[in-house]
Order: sequence, then structure tokens, then C-alpha cells
Amino acid sequence: MSAAVQHAAARNEAMEPARVHITVYGCQMNQLDAELVGEVLRAGGAEVVGDAARANVLLFLTCSVRGHAEDRVFSNIGALGARKRRRPDLVIGLLGCMAQQYGDAVRRRAPLVDIVCAPGRLAELPDLIARARAGAGATALDPPRRQAGREGFAAADQALDRVEGRRLLGKPSARHAFVTVIRGCDNFCTYCVVPNVRGPERSRPPRSILEEVRGLVGQGVREVTFLGQAVNKYAAQEDGRRCDLADLVVRAAETPGLARLSFITSHPAAMTERLAAVFRDVPSVAAYLHMPAQSGSDAVLRRMNRGYTAAEYVERVAMVRGLRPDVAVESDFIVGFPGETAEDFEATMALVGQVRFAGAFVFKYSPRPGTLAAERFADDVPTAEKRRRHSELLTLVKRIAAEEKGRPARR
Ligand code: 5AD
Ligand code: SF4
Repeated sequence: MSAAVQHAAARNEAMEPARVHITVYGCQMNQLDAELVGEVLRAGGAEVVGDAARANVLLFLTCSVRGHAEDRVFSNIGALGARKRRRPDLVIGLLGCMAQQYGDAVRRRAPLVDIVCAPGRLAELPDLIARARAGAGATALDPPRRQAGREGFAAADQALDRVEGRRLLGKPSARHAFVTVIRGCDNFCTYCVVPNVRGPERSRPPRSILEEVRGLVGQGVREVTFLGQAVNKYAAQEDGRRCDLADLVVRAAETPGLARLSFITSHPAAMTERLAAVFRDVPSVAAYLHMPAQSGSDAVLRRMNRGYTAAEYVERVAMVRGLRPDVAVESDFIVGFPGETAEDFEATMALVGQVRFAGAFVFKYSPRPGTLAAERFADDVPTAEKRRRHSELLTLVKRIAAEEKGRPARR
């Protein structure tokens, strides 16, 4: 224990115990991270409370993927000014993707923030909270990915693996659990902040994942979802042999008591025949594939650095459906990407009409600081036009999803 933390611990003894409330934004990774945060805090003696009004530590587990998500966090934290003046010992923590995106500089826009903690450093929270409660600044950031490489993340990853692997489910009745299989992202889609904030791709050792699955099933879990930004890029070495996502799924499916297994999110460029075959060969694999297309225009896909054409996307879907016709395929789309013309947008509409997704999320392009698209391309589709395309695409997506729901399974 550092001197600062010892000092903090001494002062904390005189204080009331930490009662922590966590607000979560963003993706399923953040949902899982929120569970893990709860786990480390309870292990550190804190109480995790559902009612923010009762808490003396307010944590915000944040998302940087679109400007809108960030604005909500800034305004929710900003609104705590009066409460913090009444209770100066209230601790406010900004965790997750925004913490890594802005670092200490976030305090300029959100001066109420006491703790800044990156997604990779959540295991350190008990220490950070103790420091903040003692009145000291508390920041834990991941190293910049270019300098650190994969090795620079190893120690923090192992700490997270230990927390995740030993986790006791908060809700003993939970039937479903998320399990991280790959952290970070190396794809560098030009619009996306994730490679900057979640570091390089690191696949967890298969043994550690399988042990975690067994532990969860032992606690009553029947359904597991493997998580990764591009989950199908999972690639590990074990005893000199390569283990990809298909191998991992086959091995995990052998866990006695596990009824259902799925994985999100798949990258179309990494969808192999080997992986598609698990939909046919492994009965417990759910008939569900989340594989974002993002656009139906080859020109836009190229500028997004997605690594496939619209025709290749359609082929990958056909490959999966050829092996398991009832797979529900879902997608994400971005409308109003820089330079997206009316024809490009029509190509996206045509792709949706052709693939007939079971569902899709539609987002308006939001330039993110530090991404190639924000630096190189003008955000030139007017807001009103983005809104119009968003609504037109979403209407089509919903209509097709409803029709697909109502009809008998594909053969
Ligand atoms: N603007 C709009 N949408 C984005 N997404 C990622 N980055 C951006 C951005 N800058 C969308 C993508 C991704 C989903 C999680 O969020 O569709 O698949
Ligand atoms: Fe999840 Fe990406 Fe948002 Fe981070 S930026 S919370 S990884 S969606």
C-alpha cells in the first residue's frame, strides 16, 4: 500500500463507509465492466447501492463512441454541483472510455470529477476511491498504445482476468452472463474511437475463459455471451496450438449445464467458414449473429477502412445462412459519413432490402477527436440530411424486421 493510500485508509476509518452508485452508458462491455467494478468494490469493503441519493461515491462508466453519449455524461456530472457543495466529501469518478479519451484534461470540462479511470484499470478502483476520499487526485490511465504495445497492457489485463474469473454473480438468479474473450481493437475503422481508448487487441488465454465459463455455470448461469469489439478476431496460442473463436466456442459448448452460447460483435472481414460452421455443428450456439455492415456503399466502406465490399458482406451472410438458415442477422449502420452521397445512401437502403436483417442499430455519424475520419474528412452531410437518412433507414429496418419476425424460418 502506498503512503498516500495508507494515509487515506487511516482517514477513511474515521469516515463513513463508501456507498457506491454506478451509472452505466454504452455497450455490453461496459455492462460487464459495471459488474466487475461492483465486484472489486464489494471485495474492498464498499457497499454498492442502487439508489444514487444514498451514495457518497458516484461512478460514471462512460462511452466515447458518439458525441451525444459524451454530452449526456458531461451534463449529468455538471448537474451534481449543488450536491457537491452541500457534501464536499462526495466523490465523483469518471470511468471507462471517456476517461482514456480525455485523461486528466477532462477535469477542465468537468471540474467536479475526482477520479479518472481507464477501462483497463478498473481493478485499481478501491485504491483510487481511497485516495480521492483522502482529498488527493486519483487518475489511472492505460499507456498510449503506440508506446506500450501489447505487453504494456499485460499486467492490467491479468488483474482484470482475476477479477472477472473469480466473480460471484451479484444476482444469484442470473441465467445469463457476459464473458470477455478479446480486449481492445486493431481495426482502425476511420470513424471509431475504440482502438484509441481500449488499446491493442489482446486475446485472453483459452484456459482462463473456459474456467470462467465453468465457474459461472456452477453459479446457475445457463447462457453465456462472449464479448469482443471484433470478437471473431480472437486468436490465442495454447500448448503450441492456435485457438481461434471457432475452437473456443466448440470447447466452451462442452461445459456441462451450459444451454446457450453466443458471441458479439463479429467483424464481416473476419467471418470465416470455420466460424460459420459452428452455427451448423454446435447445437447450443444461438441462431444469432451481430455483424455490422455500417454501409452498403463500397466507396463509403473504403473510406471507413472496413476491409470488405457490400458484395462480400452479402456473401458472408449467405455463407452463414447456408449452414444455418434460421440465423437472425443484425447490423449497425452509420448514416451521414463524410462524403456520403444520395446514391451511397441508396446503396445502404438496397443492402438492407437484400439482406433483410432481423434488426439493426442506425447511428448518425459523429466526428470523434483523434480518429482519422475526423482529422481527414469534412463532416459535410448537413445535420437535417443525416436526420432524414436516419429516419428513412430506420423505418425500412423496422418494417423488414417485423416482416421477418412474422414469417416461417428460412429454408
Ligand atoms: N459516429 C456514429 N456512429 C458510430 N459508431 C462507432 N463510431 C461512430 C461514430 N463516430 C457506431 C458503429 C458501431 C456502433 C457501436 O457505433 O455503427 O458499430
Ligand atoms: Fe463500448 Fe465503444 Fe462506447 Fe467504449 S466507446 S463504451 S467500447 S461502445
